[in-house]
Amino acid sequence: MIFNFKEKKINSINADFEIILIQDKKLEKYTQSQELFKLSNYKGEGVCIDMQNKILYSELKSLEYEDIRFAFASAYKALKKLEIQSIKTKSVIGKCVVNSFNALIQGFIFGAYEFDKYKKEKTSSRLENIYISQEEINNKTYNLEEAYVGINYGKIFSNACDFAKNIVNEIPQVYTPTKMAEDAINLSKNNPKISCQIYEKDFLEKEKMQAFLAVNRASIHPPKLIHLSYKPQNAKIKVIFVGKGLTYDSGGLSLKPADYMLTMKSDKSGGAAAMAIVKGASELNLDIEVHSIIGATENMIGGNAYKPDDVLISREGVSIEVRNTDAEGRLVLADCLSLAQDLKPDLLIDLATLTGACVVGLGEYTSAIMGNNEDLQDEFYKISKKSGDLTTILHFNPHLKELIKSNIADVSNTSSSRYGGAITAGLFLNSFIREEYKDKWLHLDIAGPAYLEKAWGYHSFGATGAGVRMCLSYLLYLSRNKK
Ligand code: BES
Ligand code: ZN
Ligand code: ZN
Repeated sequence: MIFNFKEKKINSINADFEIILIQDKKLEKYTQSQELFKLSNYKGEGVCIDMQNKILYSELKSLEYEDIRFAFASAYKALKKLEIQSIKTKSVIGKCVVNSFNALIQGFIFGAYEFDKYKKEKTSSRLENIYISQEEINNKTYNLEEAYVGINYGKIFSNACDFAKNIVNEIPQVYTPTKMAEDAINLSKNNPKISCQIYEKDFLEKEKMQAFLAVNRASIHPPKLIHLSYKPQNAKIKVIFVGKGLTYDSGGLSLKPADYMLTMKSDKSGGAAAMAIVKGASELNLDIEVHSIIGATENMIGGNAYKPDDVLISREGVSIEVRNTDAEGRLVLADCLSLAQDLKPDLLIDLATLTGACVVGLGEYTSAIMGNNEDLQDEFYKISKKSGDLTTILHFNPHLKELIKSNIADVSNTSSSRYGGAITAGLFLNSFIREEYKDKWLHLDIAGPAYLEKAWGYHSFGATGAGVRMCLSYLLYLSRNKK
């Protein structure tokens, strides 16, 4: 998709179609389409196509960024079926110019996304040229430089999300840990600012990553530990992301019921997001060193599978009683978080589709933010809110911590209660965070929004790129505010 910002009035731009945003359901001024509105009973909600005048009307519920995204995504979805190549629209300015243009671009790119690789009939659209007029829907004036910045951010954020989505949507037969490592290598080959190191099984053995290795044991595909980094010369701080890269989670010997196993190709969403964040950070040219460490493996069954009752010694030296092999993500993360702390981060953030409990508790739309530092959580929450990713904070407490005590090891991989599973999983991870990093760590459980079985808002079926926008927004915020 090509975005052209035109420093002129909309009427002097030539395009096959025009998008007009409807605010407050006010339709009176569009005299050319009054008959159509009446005939089609259009009251200003959703979209309405006027083929004769080549206008697509799309409702803009408010000037909130999320509504801007939705209005343009809906417009693009309606127009992409048509045999047209270009469209034009006025600008929309909400609270901040940069964020508004970022949201507008995201709307188009999210509206266009489809994973149709395995379909004979592709819905490939010819609608590639988007002209954005400087003219604003409410005649606001604004700094044009900020518009260009916002458009650039929008492209970077959306392309990073598409990158993560393509990884998550790919099928488990194709998308093995080896494939994930190849994608990481290709990312670094295509971008000279990114470097990539792949660590094999012998490295995990040498590093005594028994927890990670145990999860991998029954898989025919070798594990891969992926380390991507972006190190600008002027870096002020170092942020490390750790991603859960379960290319398939069958549950292991504590096998998932058939219904629950379906969609578990999406258990690599945290890892995919971590890769996409490095891509985005480098394209944004941030003055922050950004690393991503991804633990890639399958969780399968077989004669050599790890078992409930096993005790594993993690890289940190903390022993883990395995009570359920389906609580595997936390085992992989425990060892990856250990390695990440050796790199001395100023901020350490893990992303994982960690618990079904998080989906039960928060619904399918929201990710959880956890950690020990409330100020950090609050700050991250505030920034994430504008990014398009929905989040909420879940607080730890000492009573829940009691529930992961083990009679035989330092910690149990499952809680003794069926309640509070998202937080007890977070507390499990906390057992592997060293004292000096306790306040520098955030855990993001993206299990709900990472993968959709039903499209909602401007997201299509399947992967959403959950986590990417909130983390990139937070990195941008850090780059601006933490000098
Ligand atoms: N990958 C799942 C969590 C999950 C569930 C992600 C649904 C996305 C949608 C994770 O490995 C898991 O199975 N967790 C168990 C933990 C339990 C055994 C303590 C769960 O949530 O049921
Ligand atoms: Zn599992
Ligand atoms: Zn899992």
